[in-house]
Amino acid sequence: MNGIRMVETPTAQPPFYLPQADECEIFAAAHGNRLPLLLKGPTGCGKTRFVSHMAARLGRPLYTVACHDDLSAADLIGRYLLKGGETVWVDGPLTRAVREGAICYLDEVVEARKDVTVVLHPLTDDRRILPVDRTGEELAAAPGFMLVASYNPGYQNILKTLKPSTRQRFLAVEFGFPKPEHEVPVVARESGLAEARVQPLVRLANKLRGLKGQDLEEGVSTRLVVYAATLINGGMPVERAVLAAMIEPLTDDEEVRRGLLDLVVAIMG
Ligand SMILES: Nc1ncnc2c1ncn2[C@@H]1O[C@H](COP(=O)(O)OP(=O)(O)OP(=O)(O)O)[C@@H](O)[C@H]1O
Ligand SMILES: [Mg+2]
Repeated sequence: MNGIRMVETPTAQPPFYLPQADECEIFAAAHGNRLPLLLKGPTGCGKTRFVSHMAARLGRPLYTVACHDDLSAADLIGRYLLKGGETVWVDGPLTRAVREGAICYLDEVVEARKDVTVVLHPLTDDRRILPVDRTGEELAAAPGFMLVASYNPGYQNILKTLKPSTRQRFLAVEFGFPKPEHEVPVVARESGLAEARVQPLVRLANKLRGLKGQDLEEGVSTRLVVYAATLINGGMPVERAVLAAMIEPLTDDEEVRRGLLDLVVAIMG
């Protein structure tokens, strides 16, 4: 099947997620009221982790689909496949989630083709139905079903955005990078590095984020700060880890890179 797909079944212990604000309450209210939810935010700020965490907390299986410009409605809904000389219908991840009352998470939904967004419309308003044209079925979403979509408003070009008729079917929550008092414990927990040693990395990350728009397309993600801390915790010298995890991934421009290195020296000594 086209498109990367991942299934998570609820576990006793939800994956660690430290809330930034009231996003857990919004998610739970959306789920309880059968409303779809859109998560907006930069890369590596915790959107995927948040959805895994909430799905586990709510005890729902989670189907994650990474959207891309080749992803078709059939990839989501399903198709007839030849199996041992017979044609059998195979549900796609969206159809399975609708039948099972699971959570379906469409990552980078703006990348999906137009025919995909059309499929979402009857499912994301009060009808909550999924027409499966190929089989002639019209599936009513089982209780517990929820559609969650995410995208990064930052680097989309202006043409790649959701139509108002699509976006106005979703509740939406904006994610940013966590405040230092949240990011330090998150990075420490994820990497195993002591909070006191994580602090300068988070300070540097916030300085680098301040350059977004001038020299950098995107600020350094929490994911990269976790990478740096993980390398340091494994014994790598701080400067080497910072270069590999927090500078090189940001830019290919030699001048910008040199500017960033100056910033590292100024902040971390
Ligand atoms: N609030 C948080 N609680 C726990 N971990 C977090 C939190 N925020 C970020 N992280 C850490 O940051 C990493 C990256 O987060 P995640 O993969 O969820 O980002 P994302 O927003 O989905 O990014 P992308 O848009 O690139 O898919 C996680 O693996 C986790 O280690
Ligand atoms: Mg993600």
